[in-house]
Amino acid sequence: MKLKKWDLLFIIIGVLVVFVLAVAPRQTTPRIPLDEIHSNLTDEKTCKNCHGPGTDRPLPPKHPNKERCLLCHKRKK
Ligand code: HEC
Ligand code: HEC
Repeated sequence: MKLKKWDLLFIIIGVLVVFVLAVAPRQTTPRIPLDEIHSNLTDEKTCKNCHGPGTDRPLPPKHPNKERCLLCHKRKK
């Protein structure tokens, strides 16, 4: 009896997880443009030369300032 109750709980949790993932907003992270500047960039340390504070294209104020730029910013296809 007890076991079955827990099984049901896990099924409900599983359904909930799938549901939350399904209604999550679509990815809106801007993609890296496919231009001369970006197409050859593989080193994330160079990004901040142009996108760091005080540059022409600084990161937005609320930007999650992490190092791994390419984790979030995929290249345009
Ligand atoms: C030589 C300077 C330079 C470097 C280095 C550079 N960028 Fe850029 N980036 C720009 C400029 C200028 C623009 C805006 C013009 C354009 O769209 O190409 C831009 C635009 C972008 C955009 C799109 C912004 C939008 O409005 O959609 C993203 C995302 C981006 N860069 C990410 C990166 C990442 C990640 C790196 C490191 C791998 C990087 N950039 C390195 C100059 C640079
Ligand atoms: C945790 C995910 C994440 C990481 C890591 C990340 N970004 Fe972003 N970035 C975003 C999101 C989301 C936005 C859109 C923010 C907004 O529009 O307010 C954004 C916006 C930008 C923009 C502005 C695009 C525009 O339209 O003007 C640039 C440039 C950019 N990121 C560059 C970088 C660089 C360079 C790095 C590495 C230092 C980096 N990002 C790391 C998620 C990320």
